[in-house]
Amino acid sequence: MSELRFLWFKAAWVSILLLVVADSQSTHPAEVTALQLIKDSFIDEQNKLDNWKHGDPCVSNWTGVLCFNRTLDDNYLHVRELQLLSMNLAGTLSPALGRLSYLQILDVMWNNITGSIPKEIGELTNLVLLLLNGNELTGSLPSELGYLPKLDRIQIDQNDISGEIPASFANLNKTKHFHMNNNSLSGQIPPELSRLPSLVHLLLDNNNLSGYLPPQLSQLPNLLILQLDNNHFEGSIPSTYSNMLQLLKMSLRNCTLQGPIPDLSSIPHLAYIDLSDNNLNGTIPDVKLSDDITTIDLSSNRLTGNIPPSFSGLPNLQRLSLFNNSLNGSIPSNIWQNRTFNSTEHLTLEMQNNNISGISGSLNLPPNVTLSLRGNPACSNASMAQFCQSSMTLVNHLQSIPSNSTDNCPPQSCPTNYEYAPGSPSPCFCAAPLLIGYRLKSPGISDFPAYFYSFEVYLTSGLQINHFQLDLTYAWQNGPRLAMNLKIFPVFTGPGSNTFNKSEVLRIRSMFTQWQIPDSEIFGPYELLNFTLLDPYKDFIPTSPSSSGISKGAVAGIVVGAIVGAVLLSAFVSLYILRLNRKKYHVISRRRHVSRASLKIEGVKSFSYEEMKHATNNFDVGSEVGQGGYGKVYKGVFNDGTVVAIKRAQEGSLQGEKEFLTEIELLSRLHHRNLVSLLGFCDEEGEQMLVYEFMPNGTLREHLSVTEKYKESLSFAMRLRIALASAKGILYLHTEANPPIFHRDIKATNILLDSNFNAKVADFGLSRLAPVADMEGIVPGHVSTVVKGTPGYLDPEYFLTHKLTDKSDVYSLGVVFLELLTGMHPITHGKNIVREVNIAYRSGMIFSVIDSRMGSYPSECVEKFITLALKCCREETDERPSMAEVVRELENVWQMIPESDSQTSVSIDTERNKNSSSESSSATTKNPYVSSDISGSDLVSGVIPTITPR
Ligand SMILES: *[C@@H]1O[C@H](CO)[C@@H](O)[C@H](O)[C@H]1NC(C)=O
Ligand SMILES: *[C@@H]1O[C@H](CO)[C@@H](O)[C@H](O)[C@H]1NC(C)=O
Ligand SMILES: *[C@@H]1O[C@H](CO)[C@@H](O)[C@H](O)[C@H]1NC(C)=O
Repeated sequence: MSELRFLWFKAAWVSILLLVVADSQSTHPAEVTALQLIKDSFIDEQNKLDNWKHGDPCVSNWTGVLCFNRTLDDNYLHVRELQLLSMNLAGTLSPALGRLSYLQILDVMWNNITGSIPKEIGELTNLVLLLLNGNELTGSLPSELGYLPKLDRIQIDQNDISGEIPASFANLNKTKHFHMNNNSLSGQIPPELSRLPSLVHLLLDNNNLSGYLPPQLSQLPNLLILQLDNNHFEGSIPSTYSNMLQLLKMSLRNCTLQGPIPDLSSIPHLAYIDLSDNNLNGTIPDVKLSDDITTIDLSSNRLTGNIPPSFSGLPNLQRLSLFNNSLNGSIPSNIWQNRTFNSTEHLTLEMQNNNISGISGSLNLPPNVTLSLRGNPACSNASMAQFCQSSMTLVNHLQSIPSNSTDNCPPQSCPTNYEYAPGSPSPCFCAAPLLIGYRLKSPGISDFPAYFYSFEVYLTSGLQINHFQLDLTYAWQNGPRLAMNLKIFPVFTGPGSNTFNKSEVLRIRSMFTQWQIPDSEIFGPYELLNFTLLDPYKDFIPTSPSSSGISKGAVAGIVVGAIVGAVLLSAFVSLYILRLNRKKYHVISRRRHVSRASLKIEGVKSFSYEEMKHATNNFDVGSEVGQGGYGKVYKGVFNDGTVVAIKRAQEGSLQGEKEFLTEIELLSRLHHRNLVSLLGFCDEEGEQMLVYEFMPNGTLREHLSVTEKYKESLSFAMRLRIALASAKGILYLHTEANPPIFHRDIKATNILLDSNFNAKVADFGLSRLAPVADMEGIVPGHVSTVVKGTPGYLDPEYFLTHKLTDKSDVYSLGVVFLELLTGMHPITHGKNIVREVNIAYRSGMIFSVIDSRMGSYPSECVEKFITLALKCCREETDERPSMAEVVRELENVWQMIPESDSQTSVSIDTERNKNSSSESSSATTKNPYVSSDISGSDLVSGVIPTITPR
């Protein structure tokens, strides 16, 4: 009774904390309402925004909602970014978007959103990036968007937006990027746009624009790219365009333009001209273009006269396309003779379908030059036959990527979502890359191989990563655009470094989504097609920097405030208890709802209470296989013959529903061949059960004692193998799990053996959520915060200081190693195993304590193993090895075992395997990485511990 009251008091305290926290940190109510309306107008079939119901948007990390990490002047949190890239959202954009007054980035790219762009977006005066591309938006552009004073980038490309470009857009003083291609925009390009002081990229290609090209656009002081292909303009290219002195690219393909080609020789860095598929006439100006020129495409016009000699010696030219014109004369061979080529450079000369009579000069073309002359009078000359074949007319986009000198690691099989990092400076290792769909919207080149290396340097330096971390494949698409699949690999820094940590993933992601990678003059603007986070990054949804919550200082302040408050308001504690109860009631009434939603936890199954009851013969004593702190463990057999282990929480171990589901969610993400797999759970009728793969050979402890069940003892090699496997399982928890998990209760009865005697660690992750004692000053809100662990295995330092570290697990595992070596229990008749073995060790008598049931063993291996075990059990945390070092040392010992000994253990394994094969769990046999374990050989591989994510 008194304990209950104590708990209530604690609960009251927690509730005070919560109230204080809630008052000081919450999203502005208007924005909360707005977000709800925004969600309501989306159709979210894949439930990507499922968590937009509970809690506070900024505090509870609603998916894609990023907030300022502290309250602003009005003492509220505010939404800074909406990042809803590629979430399969349909429905419409809500006018309520206009109420997110502090919004800087609105990103709904690559969804299926329909309807029109709400004019209310024009109220977002802080907006910097408006990213609506890749949807099915219709309607016209609201003129209100022209009054966004901070807008840097407007991307509405690849929608079906119609109507004219509002002249009000001329007010967008800060806007650098107009990306509006692939829509149905019509009317004239407003001449007023020439006032835009910051505009660098004007992409209006693939629309229905008409009228004259405004000559005034030449006044744009910073324009780099003018891309207007596939529209229906009238008249000619304004001669004023020769004055666009910053221009890098002019692409006016298929625009029904007439008249002469302007003189573009005064543009100092012009790199790309495409005026093809128009009705241009007259001659090609004989003027010297910029040395930066890579591409000149004047094909399919009505051009006459000669190919001017000024095309010769352009040092960076990649493509000169003049086909389908009426050009005559001969081709000056100094186009290629006056320049040098390195092995990746290529020049394509497309001259088909003209009146060209021949080549002036040598017919010996370097291998880097492709010339096509088909459909010209020259082809009647037999010496020209080599240039007149039809295959030559194909634009050569199929060159291979230059072999990357940093590719050291050939492809290898790795677990799903992992692959060999090809550029890793040794060692080669399986790593989980980030996969990014990326496209250059308007590149300044026509042939990639020559620029491949500089592209990699550009991108990796922009992202602040090493060059060897990037691997890519590419394909040209219509436009031409250059689409790429980027893979970014983590750097190998030791075991466990084969994934990126969360902050690095989010950093790299935001470099892309916030367009922080500087633009490149050669490669032009990019578009982000996807940035999908698969396992092991699946749960790294971008959240606010405030996500980790409240700063330490704030916590301290709150705690102090709460203590003072608690004293002053002690009279009102009962009121708070009342409140808390109401809250609790609220939680309970939502229960069923939460658990329905939870049925979707991936990789684990939700079982009904009936199924559990049936499988265990109504929880019959005969089905019991063990008893842990959490409750009883039953062997369950389903109708289809599947055997499982069912852990049934006893009263007192029951958790809040939410905690239980969170825990399952966490456990469901842990997959390693040396961890017992969670298959499912049952959360019905007030019961909480966990369903695991069944381990037919029981616990390690059972094999170390003389028992009825297992008469045969384990050989030294098998023991060593079990030690190594256990260490690998725990290393995974320490380094691969996110967040890292300390087991806290490693003992010989928590190491289980499957039908092949593969060891798997059990009971991990349970009660991880209980607050650990190192959150100084805050009374823990859970009951289970007593020092956890089992006498004999408990790290003395943890026991004294309550400071839990990874070295606490090292200590407990060291005790297990001593058990493996001696067969002793951790504590017998008041004697402690660590102390006993230490005494024997110091007096040079180690072989006197070695388990005699083990049979013969290689003594130097035993010596090394025992030395390691004792090192793990050092009192001083710092003197214990890390789990990675434990794994490494055990692998060294394993390698020292004479071949025959380790073989024996394997053959014993397979013998046993035959006997009990029917019981081997489906969950393990499905996994190819488990079966390879049987050979034992991969245990000695000096590479990374294999991880087996699904
Ligand atoms: C844009 O439209 C053109 C013409 O319809 C099409 O060829 C091209 O693939 C489209 N580009 C993109 C990126 O969708
Ligand atoms: C060039 O013109 C010919 C004949 O007019 C036409 O058949 C061909 O499609 C054109 N080639 C290109 C690439 O436009
Ligand atoms: C995450 O990884 C990056 C780069 O690998 C490293 O610089 C950073 O310190 C790591 N951060 C954390 C919190 O571990």
